[in-house]
Amino acid sequence: MPNIRKIEQIQGEMTEWRRDLHAHPEIAFAETRTADFVAKKLAEFGLEVHRGLAKTGVVGTLINGDGPAIGLRADLDALPIQEQTGAAHGSTTAGKMHACGHDGHTAMLLGAAKYLAATKDFTGTVRFIFQPAEELEGGGRVMVEEGLFDKFPVDSVYGMHNMPDMPVGTMSVRGGPGMASAASFEIKVIGKGGHAAAPHEGVDPIVAGAAIVGALQTIASRVVNPTQGIVVSVTQFHAGETAINAIPGTATLRGTARSFDKDAETSVPAMIKRVTDGIAAAHGVKIEFSYQHRYPVLINADAESAIAFRVGQDVVGTGMDAVYPRIMASEDFAFMLNARPGAFVRLGSGFADRESPMLHSPHFDFNDAALPIGASFWGRLVETVLAK
Ligand code: NI
Repeated sequence: MPNIRKIEQIQGEMTEWRRDLHAHPEIAFAETRTADFVAKKLAEFGLEVHRGLAKTGVVGTLINGDGPAIGLRADLDALPIQEQTGAAHGSTTAGKMHACGHDGHTAMLLGAAKYLAATKDFTGTVRFIFQPAEELEGGGRVMVEEGLFDKFPVDSVYGMHNMPDMPVGTMSVRGGPGMASAASFEIKVIGKGGHAAAPHEGVDPIVAGAAIVGALQTIASRVVNPTQGIVVSVTQFHAGETAINAIPGTATLRGTARSFDKDAETSVPAMIKRVTDGIAAAHGVKIEFSYQHRYPVLINADAESAIAFRVGQDVVGTGMDAVYPRIMASEDFAFMLNARPGAFVRLGSGFADRESPMLHSPHFDFNDAALPIGASFWGRLVETVLAK
C-alpha cells in the first residue's frame, strides 16, 4: 500500500499551505501568524484546538471512541537566514526563512489531520502537537515543562524530520540513540594585563587559554571511552582589543559538547573543570567556568520504532531503511521522547531531478513531492496504533 489515496487528493492543498508558510517565516516563540494559520485549519477540520502552550504552541485533539492516545508532533519555526532560493513563494521577510523544512512538517501534519478528521478509521485519541522554537530555543522542552502531557495525555509520541540527503520515497527509523545531546560552556581566564614587552610582570591569559584549548582535545581522545562518542569543540576565543603591545587581563573561551551517551555528557563539566583547574595552577590564572546542558540525547524507544518501521514499509515499501545513521546535531523532540515512549522518523526529501541543498542552507526549499508520503505515514500510523 503506497500513499493514501485521499491524501494524494489533497496534495495540491498541502502544497499551497506549505508555500504560504514558506513565504511567511517566523522564528522562535514569535510564530503568531503560523499558529493562527494552523489553529484555523484544525478548527475547520472539526478538531478541538488549544493554544498558548510555550506561547505560540498549538495542540489539536481528535477523539473517536475509546482507545489509547497518540501524539504526533511538527515544528513551526523558521531560521534567521537570508533566503537565496529565488522561489516564487520565497520568504517575504528579510533575514528569515524556512531553511529546515518545518513549513513542510507543518503542512504534512495538517494534511494528516484533515484526512483523519474526515475518515475517522481509528478508535482512540490523536493529539496533533505543533511546537514553536525548535531551533536553538527548545520550544519542545517548554511545552513539556508547561504540562503538555498532563493536559493532553498520550501513550506514545512520534516526530518526523525531512532529510534532503535521502531521496523522496525513502524513510528510516531505528530504536536507540539517534541524535546527540548538546551543551554549551564558557571559560573565562583571568590573568593580569600589562605591557607586552614585560610579560614577566603580568599573567598572560592568552597563553593559558591556548593551553586549555589544546588540553580540552584530550577529553574526547584520551579520557572518555571511545565507544561513547563525544565531541568537545571550542568555537570562540576572545582576548585583547586594539593594542597589539598590551597583554590583556582576560580571555574568554566558549564552546559546545555533544554526545550520544547520557553519562558521557553529564560527566563533561567535571572533566573540563579538572583541565582548567590544572592549567590555572600551572599558569597562575583564575578561572570562571559555566556549563549549560541544552538538549538531551534523542533516544527512540524500541517498540515504537518497530511500529513506525512497519508503517513506513506500508507507505514506501523497500524505501524503508533500517539504517539510521547517528547525527551529532541535536533535536528538541528529545524532551518529548524523555517524557513518553516514541520515535523520531526520517523522511527522504531529496529532489530526483536536481541537487538538494542541505538543511539550514540559504538555498534550501522543502521538496513538495514528500508531502503526501509524510502525511500518509501519519495517517497509517494512527490507523495502526489506534486500530479498530
Ligand atoms: Ni529542523
